[in-house]
Amino acid sequence: MKRLTEFGLTEFDDLADPTFSQAVIDWQRAHGRHTLPWQNTRDAYRVWLSEIMLQQTQVAAVLGYYARFLDRFPTVRDLAAAPIEEVMGYWSGLGYYTRARNLHACAIRVVQEYDGVFPGDPALLAGLPGIGRSTAAAITAFSNGTRAAILDGNVKRVFARVFGVEGYPGEKRIEEGLWRRADALLPHEGIESYTQGLMDLGATLCTRSKPDCGRCPLQARCVAFATGRTAELPVRKPKKASPEKRAHMLVVIHAGQVLLEQRPGSGIWGGLLSLPEVDGHVGIDEERDGAGALSAALSRLGTIDEVQALLPLVHVFTHYKLHMVPHKVTLAARGATPAGHVWVALADVGDAALPAPVKKLLLDLARPNLFG
Ligand code: ADE
Ligand code: SF4
Repeated sequence: MKRLTEFGLTEFDDLADPTFSQAVIDWQRAHGRHTLPWQNTRDAYRVWLSEIMLQQTQVAAVLGYYARFLDRFPTVRDLAAAPIEEVMGYWSGLGYYTRARNLHACAIRVVQEYDGVFPGDPALLAGLPGIGRSTAAAITAFSNGTRAAILDGNVKRVFARVFGVEGYPGEKRIEEGLWRRADALLPHEGIESYTQGLMDLGATLCTRSKPDCGRCPLQARCVAFATGRTAELPVRKPKKASPEKRAHMLVVIHAGQVLLEQRPGSGIWGGLLSLPEVDGHVGIDEERDGAGALSAALSRLGTIDEVQALLPLVHVFTHYKLHMVPHKVTLAARGATPAGHVWVALADVGDAALPAPVKKLLLDLARPNLFG
């Protein structure tokens, strides 16, 4: 069976479960928050102001701002008539200042387009600055008793845990599934207690870390609790695969010394000595170019006795993976030392200002059985 919701979306009854909202409503009435200053009013202006302030800010931080704001701007007309600078002054310290600019712009539109009365239709509200779908639903639920679903970050977390949602809730497909649930689970009575209850659950019990499942009215139906995965759900934002780079490094050896290059002051390993690199930009799929650059570089170093490929090493930085491909080059005779390069005795490598993975590579190489 399908029906239309207030947003004109189809509601799938197979996700419906009246015992869910009843558990939230009963818990909210017994254990939820009832004395916050924006509760016990149906003034849409006051409800709207609280919801905008609470969007990215916790209740405790909002309380003082809310009282001072209402004292100075008691109606939407007072707010719309005030200069933006003054509005910003009353917001100063709350953070996320786009909210304050949108708040002022929204007040002006409510006065100009709706004669100072907030529209009761969540779809119209959601067309105003700073009001998204979830905030519109919260405003109309609290100020009008309108049956509309909220889905803020807290509610996403509760749903992801209770229903064991696999997938990152910020991903469109997952978020759409959560909205479908949110719509399907709406109660037919007690929307205010239900909406406030979901918010209170997410803020006080089903917290991001260490949720208080022992007191939770949803524990018996919670997939995350039953499977011990409250720390894994909701699924976190997937990390982008870190890029990989390849650096061909020359280990040029002559008379018990190794050739090192002073690195530029900025960038990775800035200011340290390191092995000369053939071409820092040799691509991972460009073996042939790398080989060409390598032989050109070698011919400038002197008379070559032997070139030996060593095993590649991987070093993981925060933002990428570096494949270090060392080539051991033994010289029969030394050419001119290139600018910015120095010869360092292998015995002194341990004390040189080298990047840790390069130092390790050289110390491993310098073991007598390898160098004779
Ligand atoms: N966070 C967002 N809306 C809220 C509300 N009405 N009460 C408490 N916390 C909230
Ligand atoms: Fe959240 Fe725990 Fe309740 Fe599940 S049982 S909804 S994880 S508080």
